[in-house]
Amino acid sequence: MTHQEVRSKILGVGSYVPPRVWKNDDLQKLMDTSDEWIHQRTGIRQRHWVEGTTSTSDLALEAAKKAMAAAGVVKEEIDMILFATLSPDHDFPGSACFLQAKLGISGCPAIDIRQQCSGFVYGLSIADQFIRGGMAKKVLLVGSEIHSKGLDKTTRGRDVAVLFGDGAGAVVIGATSDLSGPHILSTHLHADGAFAKELWIEAPTQANDGPRLSAEILAEGGHYPKMNGKTVFMHAVRRMPEAIHEALNKNSLKIEDIDLFLFHQANLRINEMVAKQLEIPEEKVFNTIERFGNTTAATLPIGMDEAIRAGKLKPGMTVAMAAFGSGFTWASAIFKW
Ligand code: COA
Repeated sequence: MTHQEVRSKILGVGSYVPPRVWKNDDLQKLMDTSDEWIHQRTGIRQRHWVEGTTSTSDLALEAAKKAMAAAGVVKEEIDMILFATLSPDHDFPGSACFLQAKLGISGCPAIDIRQQCSGFVYGLSIADQFIRGGMAKKVLLVGSEIHSKGLDKTTRGRDVAVLFGDGAGAVVIGATSDLSGPHILSTHLHADGAFAKELWIEAPTQANDGPRLSAEILAEGGHYPKMNGKTVFMHAVRRMPEAIHEALNKNSLKIEDIDLFLFHQANLRINEMVAKQLEIPEEKVFNTIERFGNTTAATLPIGMDEAIRAGKLKPGMTVAMAAFGSGFTWASAIFKW
């Protein structure tokens, strides 16, 4: 009997952003900022922010339904849920459990991934390993974030607040043994916790001697994300090209063999520098930051969905993705579409 190697492939993609748009000028109602400052430094023009009681798992549900429809997979076939987010509905249980209940399925494992902007690529890797190992057949991987409810939307927090948007993206990943067709070639994951506090949220915390959250912590804004922007920038422009080279080397590919590059969308300037270092022609990079800001774990699946709709991601293409984020974490993947 011949042994057929099992690999994984992306069966379908979906995304969802809440309807309410905040343009850069709209932010001036909340803080001292300007379209000129934001656009020049980051490339962002607008972001979507939720309203009312909408939760991270609500956004995820919309994206998941679209991904399953695109994949032609019904919810009962899903035998694993992976949910990448830094903005879960609650501290516990994980948002994957809330999503599972909203989907109306039960029994399959539901796992949260806490790797921030690298969360989607980490999830792709986990799905790939579970499918290759025969432990899962149809994995639903979602990246979903609600940043808007957790940002300091005053002048004090403007360096972070203007960067982030809400949204969700999802893929369904299944098995294949046809290596001439679509499949994931490889994934590469990294982290360096020495930089954990360069982009983080301090509270609520179990790491101090007092209450997890107090009036003092709230007054100091300890429950808002803090970022050393220059350090993040410096590491992102080094780590993403490294991760792309690693993935290319693993598969004996060259930059020219890649048809489309999907990078995490933290700052257009970061991606321009990464593309320049790698000598990638502009038309092979697909950016979405102008319209969505940084949607963290949702960024790459939203980017994939947008690229499909824009006719930029086409069957037969070889695609490379890379992400960098809080942790620090960084990761890359190459797949045939
Ligand atoms: N609007 C107007 N002015 C702002 C502002 C805003 N939203 N945010 C900060 N500023 C001000 C600062 O207060 C500072 O003023 P000062 O010179 O009077 O002190 C000035 O603009 C410059 O700030 P600085 O932080 O030096 O800007 P920068 O050139 O480093 O750009 C970032 C800031 C955030 C755009 C940039 O560091 C960056 O993109 N870093 C990476 C962030 C990232 O990728 N995060 C997510 C990782 S997944």
